[in-house]
Amino acid sequence: MLCSTTSAGPLEITAQDLRGTWVLYPPAPEGVVSYSLLTFAQGNGGLQGSMYGNMKYAKRVDVQDIALEGNRLSFMTGPTPWRGEFDNATQMRLTWLWTDGSPIAEDAVVARRASRAEVSRIQRIPPANLVQHRLPLPALRELPPNGLAQTPIMGWNSWNHFTVTIDDRAVREIADALVASGLRDAGYVYVIIDDGWQGERDSDGVLHPNSKFPDMRALADYVHSKGLQFGIYSSPGPVTCANYLGSHGYEVEDAKLFASWGVDLLKYDWCSALYLYKTQEEMRAAYQKMGEALRATNRPIVYSLCNYGMFDVGKWARKAGGNLWRISNDSVAGNRWASISDRFDNNGNPEDSRPGGWNDPDMMLIDNGGLTVDESRTHMTLWVMLAAPLILGNDLRKMPGEIREILLNREVIGIDQDARGLQGQRLFREGDIEVWIKELSEVSKAVALYNRGPRKREFAVNWSKIGVSSPRMVRNLWPEVEIRSDSVGFVASIPAHGSALLRVQM
Ligand code: GLA
Repeated sequence: MLCSTTSAGPLEITAQDLRGTWVLYPPAPEGVVSYSLLTFAQGNGGLQGSMYGNMKYAKRVDVQDIALEGNRLSFMTGPTPWRGEFDNATQMRLTWLWTDGSPIAEDAVVARRASRAEVSRIQRIPPANLVQHRLPLPALRELPPNGLAQTPIMGWNSWNHFTVTIDDRAVREIADALVASGLRDAGYVYVIIDDGWQGERDSDGVLHPNSKFPDMRALADYVHSKGLQFGIYSSPGPVTCANYLGSHGYEVEDAKLFASWGVDLLKYDWCSALYLYKTQEEMRAAYQKMGEALRATNRPIVYSLCNYGMFDVGKWARKAGGNLWRISNDSVAGNRWASISDRFDNNGNPEDSRPGGWNDPDMMLIDNGGLTVDESRTHMTLWVMLAAPLILGNDLRKMPGEIREILLNREVIGIDQDARGLQGQRLFREGDIEVWIKELSEVSKAVALYNRGPRKREFAVNWSKIGVSSPRMVRNLWPEVEIRSDSVGFVASIPAHGSALLRVQM
């Protein structure tokens, strides 16, 4: 083994030491072995690397920006930074991080130098209970509307804060907090357990929750007893994005199981289906397969499609039975403000959204780190202007007062939930300032001004420029933002990355 350090001195790991293959076994659900292989080699331009895991999409990714200093290692896989700390030349502890440097998982994972024998052994580990071959898909047809989600759904999802650490207790506490905070009464009623609840599938094909969820039916009952709705997560692929068991090949069984628990919403995440079904038609058919299975239960279940906006999803999601569909990749990974501001430009086709089916720009990042209060207000403003599902992702058990005020602003929520169900659109942009309009019922319009720049700005808008003639009523929905209006127009003083939101009645 090469290691340029002596036992007495500080540990100095060299590129030579790093070369070769390392193995790590990230925490995995019961019944699933998850592993990653990390390989480093000396290339022409310096150290090169790749990572392969049976986690996530089971694909090889490039390892970039490799840097060694003393006993520390850092590198990137795509936008994800990693830090390693060597215990000795054959073992290190690896942590994956948000782009701001804070850890995603609390515990580091030990990576050890792997022998050839170990590499070939783990590569032969068969995933548990998986149907990994392509299955016949239903002929495409148009499912009739299920009558649900007449306004964008509102609630909370476990992923952005808890990822796979979510458990029965946290779900109950979140349900309690939704009630105590007033959020339930403001409309946030769906409590959605995302990835990480699944255990093993038994020989009868019944999927059991893992030990963190001892009794799913009882948990659903508890959520219902609080006047809330209960949501769950699965995938049309053999495994989910975090490598838990998916519903592939067990769509009917799983839909029945969910209905028997009292599930009111299913989020169905493409993940490993990517390796089986390639075309838009196949994707639509795979979603339709579960859509039909849900309908066959006769339970009203909101169907949330998560395909990261691939293909022209907004054009067929509804036909596959969907009530909302993601229009983009995860906003939680990476720079939070960039994720939100990206939605100004990538917000789905407005004509796809209407009562019964909605473009979903992803779960909210408010109060989950990485956004200022002004940015959080802009996040809320943009989502309500888009008529987006308002699915919170923060730890509601400890929510700062100023965040509560943003999330509970009834008039702002009213813009999102307006009965016409039209998605707002940008009217014009002048430098850093964007002006957006959303047509509302009762001869009203919501007008939003965004300051995407780094400095506070005063901005004047003439009513005539936004199609308003002599407004009868002007409401400033974020009183924190100064607005002066008269019969000609209004002037708003908007903080950096902030926004102003008005409701105007003609
Ligand atoms: C994908 C989805 C996320 C979340 C995770 C769970 O990344 O887009 O919203 O559900 O999977 O593994």
